[in-house]
Amino acid sequence: MILPIVAYGSPVLKKKAAPIDKDYPKLEELLDNMFETMYNAHGVGLAAPQIGLPIRIFLVDASPFADDEELTAEEQASLETFKKVFINAEILEETGEEWAFTEGCLSIPDVREDVFRKETIKIKYLDENFEPHTEEYSGLIARVIQHEYDHIEGVLFTDKLSSLKKRLIKGKLTNISKGKINAEYRMKFPLAKKGR
Ligand code: NI
Repeated sequence: MILPIVAYGSPVLKKKAAPIDKDYPKLEELLDNMFETMYNAHGVGLAAPQIGLPIRIFLVDASPFADDEELTAEEQASLETFKKVFINAEILEETGEEWAFTEGCLSIPDVREDVFRKETIKIKYLDENFEPHTEEYSGLIARVIQHEYDHIEGVLFTDKLSSLKKRLIKGKLTNISKGKINAEYRMKFPLAKKGR
């Protein structure tokens, strides 16, 4: 089932999400719905707060990045098959140089800006079977994970922009909160007038 994606300005997006345990009701169905919602919106990642749930779950499918011809065959192959569920994730370490990449977010349609993040992360998480993993990622995969991880910490990529950039996009962000935007997928706007 495709779920509505909550838009910029929704309080749930600013909240630090809580861990879940093995008994979380209908987890499998929730994960299926989240994947369906993400693919429907052509996203490479989706976090539970974006569908209104303040819990520590996010999904990543990096395969759309594999088309980039500037990547090595090895890099393409690792992106192509990267599809994972992260439950109760914790970033243990971020290392390397900061680099800029143009990010977007399904909760903030039509806004794309360069964000600086460190190159490499070490992350601890549970998969969909509650098996624990500790892994290291670099480059684009690390980038998507860092963006989604921020969501479960209540942080949006727009929070990381310079104050000048923030001022420049303020009007656009307000319009998104009000639903004055043409999103190509189902959304829920915190400040939309009733009856729209
Ligand atoms: Ni996002």
